[in-house]
Amino acid sequence: MAFPKDFLWGGATAANQYEGGWNEDGKGISTSDCCTRGSRTKPREVTYKTKEGKIESQMMFDLNAPKGAIFGSFEGYDYPSYTATDFYHHYAEDIALFAEMGFKMFRMSINWTRIFPNGYDDEPNEKGLEFYDHVFDELYKYGIEPLVTLSHYETPVGLTNKWGSWADRRTIDCFVKYATTCFKRYKGKVKYWLTFNEINCIGFGGWMAAGLPTCDPQIIANATRNQLLASALAVKAAHTIDENMMVGNMIGYGTAYPYTCHPDDSMKQRKMQQGVDFYTDVQARGYYPSSQLKKYEREGIVLELTDQDKQTLKEGTIDFITFSYYMSSCVSADPEVEKNQGGNMMFGVKNPYLKASDWGWQIDPVGLRIALNDFYSKYQLPLMIVENGLGAVDKVEADGSIHDSYRIDYLRAHIEQMDKAINEDDVNLIGYTPWGCIDLVSASTGEMEKRYGFIYVDYQDDGTGVGKRSRKDSFYWYQKVIASDGEDL
Ligand code: BG6
Repeated sequence: MAFPKDFLWGGATAANQYEGGWNEDGKGISTSDCCTRGSRTKPREVTYKTKEGKIESQMMFDLNAPKGAIFGSFEGYDYPSYTATDFYHHYAEDIALFAEMGFKMFRMSINWTRIFPNGYDDEPNEKGLEFYDHVFDELYKYGIEPLVTLSHYETPVGLTNKWGSWADRRTIDCFVKYATTCFKRYKGKVKYWLTFNEINCIGFGGWMAAGLPTCDPQIIANATRNQLLASALAVKAAHTIDENMMVGNMIGYGTAYPYTCHPDDSMKQRKMQQGVDFYTDVQARGYYPSSQLKKYEREGIVLELTDQDKQTLKEGTIDFITFSYYMSSCVSADPEVEKNQGGNMMFGVKNPYLKASDWGWQIDPVGLRIALNDFYSKYQLPLMIVENGLGAVDKVEADGSIHDSYRIDYLRAHIEQMDKAINEDDVNLIGYTPWGCIDLVSASTGEMEKRYGFIYVDYQDDGTGVGKRSRKDSFYWYQKVIASDGEDL
C-alpha cells in the first residue's frame, strides 16, 4: 500500500541542537547555551554564578539552584550548543541535501534569543529575523514546506534571571510578542507552526522545557499553565494574522503498557496516561480535564485559573496534533518491578519483548501504530509524527561511506506501521519528519556520538572535526522511500 500523494515526508531539527552561531549577529543566550556536554554515563549540567560570585553547576534533570543564582555560560565549560552542527553557516548546503532526498517538509525551530535576545526586549533583533528569511527563502526555492517550532528548549536565559522564566505570568506576554513578531514577519512563507516542543517534558525537565531553576511541583504546575495559556494566545494570534496558518501542539510520546494483566498495573498505566494526555486535552479541547484537576488537588497543588484564562484556553485550540515517538515502556504497580527502569528521557519498566538502542530506548514500531490510533480516536484531528528515529554510533569507513543499516531497519519498521495506521485503521496521518535528519547534538546527553541523521556531520565530542557533510546509506534509502510514496521500503 502507498501513502497519500500529498503526504509530508521530511525531517526534523531544533535550533539549540543544530544551529550553532550561539552569540552571532546579536543573538542572546538561551537556556540550552548554559547546558554542558554530557554522555551516556555523564549527566549534562547547568551552569550559574551564585550570589557570592562562585561559578557552580548542577545536573540538568535534577536542578534546584540556590536562591539568587544567575545562569549563564562561563569559560572553562564545554557547551555543545555553541557550534552544534552549524546550520547557521551551512543552511544553503543542508537544504540542498534535504531537497536531494526529496523532502516535502522541514521541521526546524526559531531560536527565540535570535529574535529577542533577552526575551523581554522592546524591539526584535533585525539580523536574527533576516537569518530565518534566508532559510525560508531557500526552502521555498525547493518547494519544501517549513514546519516551525517557536520554542524548542530555547527559552531566553534573560527571562530566568529576571523573574524565573515560565514560573512568572509575564513570560506569557513576552512569548506572545515573539510569536506575533514571527507570524507577521513570515506570513506567506510559513504555514505550519508548533508552539512548544514536548510541552509535557516540563514535568521532568523543568530547565530544558521551561528554563525553570527548580523542580518544585507547584512551580512546574504554574509554568505549565503559563505555557498552555501562551500557546492558546499564539494560536489565536496566528489565525488573526493569517487565516491560512495552521498551529499544532507537540507532545513527547511513548506508548505505555501495563506490565502484566493484573488490574492494578492497568489502573496505574491508565492514571499515568491521563497525566500525559492532559496537555493535549487542554490544547485540543480547550479545558483542563477533571482527572488533572483532581490530581493537583490530591498533591496539594493550587491551580490558579481565572475566567479569562479559561476563555483563552477555549479560544486557542490547535489545528493539528504532533508528537515525537522513539520508544515504549511498561507500568507496574509492584514496587519491586518498578525498579527495573530504562531510558534516559522517558522512564518506565523495561518490556521483556523488546530490544533497546545503545542508550536504553526500547524499540517498538507497533507501539507507534497504537499511539496513532489512540490520538486519532480521542481527538480526530490531523496528526504528524514530528520526531522518530534511532540514536546510534556511526562508523565512517576508510572511503568515507557510512553503512547505517540499523537506522534503516528502525525507520522501515516504523513506516510500515504508519502505513497500516493510514490504510487499515483510517488514521489521518499527514506528515512524518524523523528526528535529526542531519546529525546534531543530543538533547538529553549533549553529545555528538548519539547520531540520528541521514547526513553525517563531522564534529566529534572531543572538539575535533570540521563540520563536513556526507551522505549515509540511509540517505539514499530515504530518498527512494519518498520517491515511491512509501512503497519501496
Ligand atoms: C526529543 C526532543 O525529546 O527527543 C529532541 O524533542 C531530542 O530535542 C530528541 O533531541 C532525541 O533525544 P536525544 O536525547 O537522543 O537527543
